[in-house]
Amino acid sequence: MGQETPKAKHARNDSLVVIDNRTGKQYSVPITHNSVPATFFKFIRAPAGPDDRPEDEAERGLRVADRGFLNTAVIESAITYIDGERGILRYRGYPIEQLAEKSTFLECAYLLIYGALPARSQLSHFEREVLLHGIMHADATKFFGSFRYDAHPMAMLTSAFAYLGSYYGEANPSLQGQTLFTKCAKGDPEALQNMDKQIYRLIGKAITLAAMAYRVRQGREFVVPPTGMSYAESFLYQLDHLSPTDSFSASSSASPSPSPYKPHPVLARALDILFILHADHEMNASSTTVLQTGSSLPDPYSAVAAGCASLYGPLHGGANEAVIRMLVSIGSPNNVPTFLAAVKRREKVLSGFGHRVYKTSDPRSFIIRKIADEVFAVTGPDPLLDTAMALHDAALKDDYFVSRKLAPNVDFWSGLIYRAMGFPMDFFPVLFVVPRIVGWVAHWRQMMLSPEGVKIWRPRQIYVGPSERSYVPFDEREAVQGPGKEPSIVIHSG
Ligand code: CMC
Repeated sequence: MGQETPKAKHARNDSLVVIDNRTGKQYSVPITHNSVPATFFKFIRAPAGPDDRPEDEAERGLRVADRGFLNTAVIESAITYIDGERGILRYRGYPIEQLAEKSTFLECAYLLIYGALPARSQLSHFEREVLLHGIMHADATKFFGSFRYDAHPMAMLTSAFAYLGSYYGEANPSLQGQTLFTKCAKGDPEALQNMDKQIYRLIGKAITLAAMAYRVRQGREFVVPPTGMSYAESFLYQLDHLSPTDSFSASSSASPSPSPYKPHPVLARALDILFILHADHEMNASSTTVLQTGSSLPDPYSAVAAGCASLYGPLHGGANEAVIRMLVSIGSPNNVPTFLAAVKRREKVLSGFGHRVYKTSDPRSFIIRKIADEVFAVTGPDPLLDTAMALHDAALKDDYFVSRKLAPNVDFWSGLIYRAMGFPMDFFPVLFVVPRIVGWVAHWRQMMLSPEGVKIWRPRQIYVGPSERSYVPFDEREAVQGPGKEPSIVIHSG
């Protein structure tokens, strides 16, 4: 009694009944996976009313408005699930807590991209391919050398991915035909092989390009990716390797080098876990950008470059950098109340708090808090930690933040870890891009493999600008003036 039988469930009429009060007509909209198709509303038409402008196009069908995609599903995905109310994150069904404890970054990458946990041999093959594809063409030295000494690493990395695409004509649908990747959906083995090769390259070269962006600013030689190391170890090695004699050897006694450099195992594992936590987050701003860009079928390198640009903003992957700048500006735990008062007056933002999806807690923030302690045990605590703790505790007790369901997100702690590990502040977003490439390619691949084909992502707008008006000659115009209404007068440097 009281339990719905499977039969009764099928008999249920999963639809939404809509009455258009402009016309009195009734419509039944199908509900699938608890969603209604926005395109259905196009069929709901009415004659223009007295308040409608011609640009509202009432006769051409109802539009669905959703500024900032607050409640619009843009794709069906089998990759990542987030329950923001209950603080749940799962990759292909596996809880993030289990993956962070038991898995490795490249195993998670396999899982996210190909959909299942790999057998040992499948993982070895994938790891080998990814790590083999880490080598960059020697010409890239000239490319990185063309940046100014103080270039932001994200400017370099974003450009580097677009640049990388120029090497691989075989990955460019503009050159090879626009079905180059979409024919993977039919199981074409050659097309799948070509796609996988680009995936290996993108993940493999991500750490190489990131390390190049790091070293170019120090005027240090670039490092050839080592063999025999994990992904995170290889990255740390490429960042920190000091001299040609400082080569890695699995058995140090057999090494010709006096002090072979090997990344600290605790720091390498911490970075690997951080990479797992950042690998995917379903339809976040940058993954959506990659899909939006990918929907017009450019090469995947261009789509990834677009993802980098999106991720870099301080509301997304730039938040870890913004957190540290915020903590530095606060200075000490004593200044926390003044800072929070300014946030509440909306003069400042509490970076590292709040999330579009998580409304109770970000599950990644608990895992990362634990890693922070492990890293600090090796590096010593960060002097900003006390201020961070005071800020964290005060915000969680303050009704302003509690009532808005603002809790610490992954970026509140990640910046402190990166700082303790010695990364410069403006490098933090790079440390987010490197693992997120996996999420981007997983979503891009899923879209290319879609049996329905790829539809170009071309949203609609609600036009609220002027209706048609006639051109006015100079002598008859009244100039529109004021800040924001005309081009600013700028100061020119000599
Ligand atoms: N500090 C102060 N107030 C905030 C904050 C914050 N960090 N975040 C949200 N609010 C307020 C906001 O002003 C609004 O108040 P009211 O209803 O009175 O106008 C309310 O909380 C709801 O916020 P919202 O702007 O509607 O939330 P959103 O979903 O549009 O934005 C967010 C989400 C992450 C952009 C935002 O919380 C934010 O700017 N946080 C700081 C930046 C940050 O830490 N970003 C990293 C996110 S996690 C990494 C990632 O996945 O990219």
